[in-house]
Amino acid sequence: MYYGADYYPEQWPEEVWEEDVALMREAGVNLVNVGIFAWSRIQSAEGHYDWGWLDRILDLLHRNGIGAGLATATASPPPWATAAYPEMLPHDADGTVFSPGARQHFSPTSPDYRRLASELVEAIATRYATHPAVKLWHVDNELGCHLHYDYSDHAARAFRAWLQERFGTIDALNRAWGTTFWSQIYTDFEQILPPRKATYGVNPAHLLDFKRFTSDALLGLFTMQRDIIRSAGAMQPVTTNFMGAFPPANYWKWAKEMDVIADDNYPDPNVPESFRDSAFARDLMRSLKPGVPWILMEQSTNAVNWRPTNAPKKPGQMAALSMQAVAHGADGIMFFQWRQSQRGVEKFHSAMVPQVGTDSQVWRDVVALGAQLRALPETAPDSHARIALVFDWESWWAFGSGHHPVSIRYDEVVQRWYNALHRLHYSIDFVHPRSDLGAYALVIAPTVYLLDDLGAENLAAFARSGGTLLVSAFSDVVDEDDAFIHGGFLTRLSSTLGIRLEEFGALVPPPAAVSSKSAGEPASATGSEGVGEREAPFDGPSGGGKGQYLAEVIHPTTASVIGRFTAGRNEGRAALTANKAGRGNALYIATIPDDAGMTGLVRYAAGIAGIDPQISHGSTWLEAAHRGGMLTVLNHGDIPHTFTHADRTFAVDPFTWVQLEDATLDRRVSLPASPGHLQL
Ligand code: GLA
Repeated sequence: MYYGADYYPEQWPEEVWEEDVALMREAGVNLVNVGIFAWSRIQSAEGHYDWGWLDRILDLLHRNGIGAGLATATASPPPWATAAYPEMLPHDADGTVFSPGARQHFSPTSPDYRRLASELVEAIATRYATHPAVKLWHVDNELGCHLHYDYSDHAARAFRAWLQERFGTIDALNRAWGTTFWSQIYTDFEQILPPRKATYGVNPAHLLDFKRFTSDALLGLFTMQRDIIRSAGAMQPVTTNFMGAFPPANYWKWAKEMDVIADDNYPDPNVPESFRDSAFARDLMRSLKPGVPWILMEQSTNAVNWRPTNAPKKPGQMAALSMQAVAHGADGIMFFQWRQSQRGVEKFHSAMVPQVGTDSQVWRDVVALGAQLRALPETAPDSHARIALVFDWESWWAFGSGHHPVSIRYDEVVQRWYNALHRLHYSIDFVHPRSDLGAYALVIAPTVYLLDDLGAENLAAFARSGGTLLVSAFSDVVDEDDAFIHGGFLTRLSSTLGIRLEEFGALVPPPAAVSSKSAGEPASATGSEGVGEREAPFDGPSGGGKGQYLAEVIHPTTASVIGRFTAGRNEGRAALTANKAGRGNALYIATIPDDAGMTGLVRYAAGIAGIDPQISHGSTWLEAAHRGGMLTVLNHGDIPHTFTHADRTFAVDPFTWVQLEDATLDRRVSLPASPGHLQL
């Protein structure tokens, strides 16, 4: 179990380093990420390196038994670099050039940036490949975080090369992009631009491929650096820090390139249910690389600095959110940052060592958490989840092109399905439409708008082979080029679902949900007051609910109608259908239910699939998570709550947890004393 933080010794005189390592030892810190933003400190000019300070801090850490996650320092090019090569600066869609002054001011495809970054990484990796302190390589930092998309001429050139690779010929691109629409037929790849600011809606296939390209370009920075590190002879694992469900990077694809997944997570203490957003991210991280523990690379000990209001964490919340990550498969609990900065944009951001020093609750909590983590038994990171929730960046990107029947925030809708399962204490894995689904009894595919043939066939085969498949409205609408398929909608899933779809039936969308997500696309429009239908109530064996966004007109072919719309323009028509598909069942809900409707539906579908929640009689403030043979139940609420497991009742105090050996799983673990454990 790693415990530690990002550490910026370059911000402090060397006398402070001695105190730092003494405090690290007191807290049980065994890993710190060094050098993340140190490019200008390492390299004062092209070809001029100052290694002395980095040698000294790495040696000091090693002498004290503390490992380093050595960063490649490429996330903030120094002033000398941007002055000499101003063309490395990125551009927005309007053509505005971003100035230096913050960080991440580089075009990921700039040849100058890539050359300078490569030289730096090679120099660092060659010098420290075998340094005994180095336990991990930390490539760049949050690739794409501030600058999701670059529209510069560098991007244009790289985008064209990417397209040429994807399509081979310009005719193939024209077919895929449907360029006969609005006179967009290209006769040469050279004519293609990034989707810069345009007069009106840009071709959605062009937008989609630009998003695919951007994800690949950012990933290309990672693989470039990883390969340099490997060529220098370094054998330690290489990672970079993800940002949960981060819009511009398809982490399913990225995960294949990582030795270990690392994630940064900052739930907003002002949003009481933000622990569910972080549970989503934590299950997603575990699911990206099944069987391999991941690292919570950054979180805050207390307040952050970057929201309009930066509330402190509640007593115990830092530990509870850390244990949440462990329970969802993390083998590293790290913070941004070790010692609170005295200068710069982030001086109000909390740290393991606060500005007020060690006579503080934060420091006492940091020391206590270190001890708790050390006492944990070793367990495998698997969840034993039998429910999988489909999450796909490509559908997310295609939603972002707009011009749809209604504006839907894909990430928020999937989060709401997740929340419904999470409130009921089911164990959940995330999957891609093409993932191996063999371990699951229930697969929920919410609004899988974009599906390729393989993904559709994989979902259908899952149902045929005995699984329960629940598909929601606005799924299987387009192919991988964001194009309709001849024959209507639901063309690949209709025989599995036993229905035909005639009309999407847009409703006035609900107000955007409150979420603590830090990154995302603009919130959906809330619609005009008093105009049009907002909700489509439906009934059925799941208890019904209120449909939102869409009330589709569907016609059963082989499916049974088990729920109907009970009011509005679709009154009396099918809302919920069930079809026998081979040895399994395929359910379809022709709308996006409200929270109560989703809760009823997931409980109903899990019942059909024979899946029990991990605990019973537990409040929705309790979170249950399986890891290996251990069940952790955390209380994220302000008052004590009870739950039942294996016929015993337990109470959990606010922001504490209970850990139980799970009698339903044949695993043996020895349990540490855990703070909230009180058997009634
Ligand atoms: C991100 C960055 C860190 C720091 C924190 C502040 O996670 O990676 O460098 O800026 O945010 O919350």
